[in-house]
Amino acid sequence: MYDWLNRLPKAELHMHLEGSLEPELLFALAQRNGITLPWPDIDSLRAAYDYRDLQEFLDLYYQGAQVLQTEQDFYDLTWAYLQKCAEQNVVHTEPFFDPQTHTDRGVPFEVVINGIGQALADGRRQLGVQSGLILSFLRHLPEEAAMRTFEQALPYRDAFIAVGLDSSEKGFPPRLFERVFARARAEGFPAVAHAGEEGPPEYIWEALDLLKVSRIDHGVRASEDPRLIQHLIDTQMPLTVCPLSNTRLKVFEHMSDHNILELLEQGVMVTVNSDDPSYFGGYVTENFLALHEHAGMTREQAQRLADNSMQARLLK
Ligand code: ADE
Ligand code: ZN
Repeated sequence: MYDWLNRLPKAELHMHLEGSLEPELLFALAQRNGITLPWPDIDSLRAAYDYRDLQEFLDLYYQGAQVLQTEQDFYDLTWAYLQKCAEQNVVHTEPFFDPQTHTDRGVPFEVVINGIGQALADGRRQLGVQSGLILSFLRHLPEEAAMRTFEQALPYRDAFIAVGLDSSEKGFPPRLFERVFARARAEGFPAVAHAGEEGPPEYIWEALDLLKVSRIDHGVRASEDPRLIQHLIDTQMPLTVCPLSNTRLKVFEHMSDHNILELLEQGVMVTVNSDDPSYFGGYVTENFLALHEHAGMTREQAQRLADNSMQARLLK
């Protein structure tokens, strides 16, 4: 089954480049940049990949991202991910990056976007992986900071295709970012937002009504609101669901409790994605495989999920 799932042509619509930093590369970059890490070796870092919730994961993710300093580092990170895409027949990807994670510790925006952009261009040419980058704002920081980041990004407008919203969800509703999303829309950028991962269905409504998003990232808590589910079906609004992430972050206790297949059968436009593959135990194929092994996903359902991912691309 792994080989069959691996061969399916797929698009990945929800992954954070910083979340694909494998422990081996993290240690290699720390050494290259003369950074002392709080973990003595790779195994002890891996042992820390055990989270009670989203915040515990994010603390580790932001700490790990500190080894990324030069254009070459961002290139190497992105290139490693694109090689995985090629291996897993992910023919199209729309990854996130979080500029504020880097600019707030003094890494110039230009260094980040040039390193990532060069790798994406090489990925298209050398690996045949199509891509469109999504600039994501950190919601635990004020809207003014997101606005400054957007203005900083505008001179590089050809390097990204959309804006997004991520980081700590509870207590940071989408409505706090209405102005910066309006500004991005006025500049011609479509939007996506994380909503309904740990946060309530109201956050999904806000992302739709106020941020006017083209996709919802996660969105699994929509199932608590029947009117919202009907709206998602009627509008065929895509949800970028991340099964391994949701179980590792305790959104669902077990993979067998996950609601993605139920949503699929109800007619919701759901897709399968890896979120932070290095931190959650797998890339796209591993997410499909987990659904097959623990939630009973059939080949026919896998095919529909893969077809949905191609259909829900922002960049056609
Ligand atoms: N940043 C990286 N991964 C994330 C996730 N799963 N939710 C919110 N922000 C994130
Ligand atoms: Zn995410």
